[in-house]
Amino acid sequence: MTITFERLSPALGALVHGLDLREPLTATSHAALHQGLLEHQVLFLRDQLLTPRQQRDVAARFGDLHIHPIYPKHPEQPEILVLDTELNDLRDNALWHTDVSFIQTPPLGSLLSARQLPPYGGDTLWASNSAAYAALSAPIRELLEGLSAWHDLSKSFPLERFGQTPDALERFNAARAANPPVRHPLVRVHPETGAKGLFVSEGFTTRIVELTESESDALLRLLFAHAARPEFQVRWQWRVGDLAFWDNRITQHYACDDYRPQRRVMHRATILGDRPRGPREAI
Ligand code: OGA
Ligand code: MN
Repeated sequence: MTITFERLSPALGALVHGLDLREPLTATSHAALHQGLLEHQVLFLRDQLLTPRQQRDVAARFGDLHIHPIYPKHPEQPEILVLDTELNDLRDNALWHTDVSFIQTPPLGSLLSARQLPPYGGDTLWASNSAAYAALSAPIRELLEGLSAWHDLSKSFPLERFGQTPDALERFNAARAANPPVRHPLVRVHPETGAKGLFVSEGFTTRIVELTESESDALLRLLFAHAARPEFQVRWQWRVGDLAFWDNRITQHYACDDYRPQRRVMHRATILGDRPRGPREAI
């Protein structure tokens, strides 16, 4: 069966047909999936109720996996992170963010699997950072290309929600100590396609290094609002067994917090990436 991609929105997103990830991924289907990811930035597959092991194995074909410093792990498969509203208050995911940008080598991408869902609500939205960058005026693009910003884990993992039991507090303090803020370019050159993307997100970006505090606050406010324009987005309405695979180097996402107190359970495998490079850095 051949793999085909059905585009879902102008900026990013495609539905993948003709692939069953419960079967081992052949070299040909791996290459097709990889190409599809580069082209569409986020891919969606229906009816892929993978075991944690299968999900881990598919993700591991694309790189080493990341183990999250705070979120709970699946009991049988530590590389699978569990987002379960009964284990954590997940309202902090309802904020535009690029996953784990608070480390030197943020993830290349993630595979997110829907396990249990509310009857409606709980959609996830993705936005294309390259579409956002391209829509900026030339003078602003020129300014941004020379700038860098701090990314800080504490911005999205507040103590009030991630440090409330002795165990959680210990994990939280260890995570903070192991992950001091890191500096990344404000414009990132995609390591595989060469596309330029705006590399800031409300979830983790705290301060533009080269500007004064008030300039940084004003410019970040502008960029967060710009990056979240609906023209740069695709919105996914989940069914149990759906799998999303996104390129975390050129997108950000937002988990809609509109279904509580109902339960929602997702499994994520996170593939490590490379150190973000700006347009003025030599490779
Ligand atoms: C994630 C995330 C979105 C969701 O897995 O990184 O932000 O809809 N989840 O659960
Ligand atoms: Mn996320």
